[in-house]
Amino acid sequence: MFRITLLQNFRLNGELYDAVSIAEDDQWRRIRSVLSPSFTSGRLKEMFSIMKHHSANLLGSMKKKADKDEPLEMKEFFGPYSMDVVTSTAFSVDIDSLNNPSDPFVTNIKKMLKFDLFNLSSSLLGPVEYQALMEMEYLDGVINESLRLYPIAPRLERVAKATVEINGLVIPKDMVVMVPTWTFTGTLICGPSQRSSNLRGPRNCIGMRFALVMMRLALVEILQRYSFSVCKETEIPLEMDIQGLLMPKRPIQLKLEARS
Ligand code: HEM
Repeated sequence: MFRITLLQNFRLNGELYDAVSIAEDDQWRRIRSVLSPSFTSGRLKEMFSIMKHHSANLLGSMKKKADKDEPLEMKEFFGPYSMDVVTSTAFSVDIDSLNNPSDPFVTNIKKMLKFDLFNLSSSLLGPVEYQALMEMEYLDGVINESLRLYPIAPRLERVAKATVEINGLVIPKDMVVMVPTWTFTGTLICGPSQRSSNLRGPRNCIGMRFALVMMRLALVEILQRYSFSVCKETEIPLEMDIQGLLMPKRPIQLKLEARS
């Protein structure tokens, strides 16, 4: 069988030499099996109330700008929201980075992580429940499609563990195989079967379901009260930066319009 299970390690990651995304073989298996139980649906449900606390903060900060009819730099809000949810669920540290941007924890984590966002429109009333959120198929489709068009990791890599031949093409042992997820999404280039979301395997994203719950929650809570609209500050079309993670070159600016 063709076994391509390693990510490429340029050994530039210093103290993060044994991060799960970098570790290889037995070390990777060990770390991954230690982390996996933190991402079960039972655990996600437990984390949901913590996420709700932060989505309420998110709404509060967005409201301040929306009330003044000012454009919102999306990353200014979703970046701290993601950071707050991750730090409070993973480290039990409530830093409220939306309101404390200069907290040392915040500034250190910002150096390590980069965040992004997505867009959509829908409406629903009442408190958001975990189960209902999981059953929102349209919302799921919108987030998946946004990630297909703008995959955060524009390129995935594997290293061949053994020489293998696929349809006459020989891939020698140790060769790096790159998967250009971003170009795959071009509608002219491929059909749905080649979507980046199908590129799953043992090294798939351990935080995928966690991230999806968090994104769905924020979007539903915002869209219960507001709709997003483009404004004169919105850059159309977006120019993307593909140096590392895929992100817009300049911040995405949108307005929030209160729903009547
Ligand atoms: C929208 C949000 C996210 C996106 C688009 C995303 C995407 C990805 C992608 C494309 C990979 C590489 C998969 C591969 O090579 O097959 C990955 C790996 C990984 N992700 Fe995520 N991710 C997200 C959120 C998260 C979160 C919230 C966490 C942690 C709480 C997380 C933790 C990881 C880890 C640890 C790996 C490496 C897994 C391994 O090598 O075993 N991700 N992610």
